[in-house]
Amino acid sequence: MRLLESERLMLKPIEEEDIYVLLEIRWDWDVMFFSLHEPISRREQLEWYRSLSSKKDLALSVFLKTEQGLKLVGTIGLYDINPRHQRATFRMRLSKESQGLGIGFEAGRMLMEYGFNVLNLRKICGDQFAVNKAAVTFCRRMGFVEEGVLRKHFYQNGEFRDVSFVGLLKEDFFAAMGELDKQQSTGE
Ligand SMILES: CC(C)(COP(=O)(O)OP(=O)(O)OC[C@H]1O[C@@H](n2cnc3c(N)ncnc32)[C@H](O)[C@@H]1OP(=O)(O)O)[C@@H](O)C(=O)NCCC(=O)NCCS
Repeated sequence: MRLLESERLMLKPIEEEDIYVLLEIRWDWDVMFFSLHEPISRREQLEWYRSLSSKKDLALSVFLKTEQGLKLVGTIGLYDINPRHQRATFRMRLSKESQGLGIGFEAGRMLMEYGFNVLNLRKICGDQFAVNKAAVTFCRRMGFVEEGVLRKHFYQNGEFRDVSFVGLLKEDFFAAMGELDKQQSTGE
């Protein structure tokens, strides 16, 4: 078992061979619809990848283990890692067909544990459209708390959307996970 691996998932630093698959996922309208980031070109994707080693980012590919081998289904990461404030920003993007299968929660939990226990973070931040039900539910389940809403902040698909800023403290994450494990073990 590697550092960030479960029965069905493997999270590994993004390799150059992954980046155009990840770009296709990013360009998918169903995924883009919920993205706070602009579409980018292959050249920009390559430049971003090459800049990773000089940045304080942990950018990982999410692989699903299948009978045919590892399947790249998305990306997850901790960005702008700030050792002084012990803080980082969380982002995740899965392909449309991989959403709603519990992959996000499983990968997210592994990464948060790594962030708090190995990278020694105290807080992980995130932002998302307030209308993004999957992300809102995911964050609530993980223990994030909404810290503010920027109203009509981002123009997307013909409307100005509210953006919700969320924060996850180390103690809140482990309390949420402890509660979840208790519920699962008692079958609630
Ligand atoms: C947000 C995202 C990472 C969540 O990962 P996921 O694998 O789809 O979510 P999971 O299957 O692990 O589900 C996590 C929770 O969200 C809920 N959920 C998932 N999809 C949902 C949807 N479309 N509507 C409402 N709730 C949803 C699940 O029911 C689950 O809650 P529960 O355990 O209480 O039932 C993923 O959907 C994604 O990549 N979306 C596109 C990009 C994006 O929005 N990124 C985040 C903001 S930038």
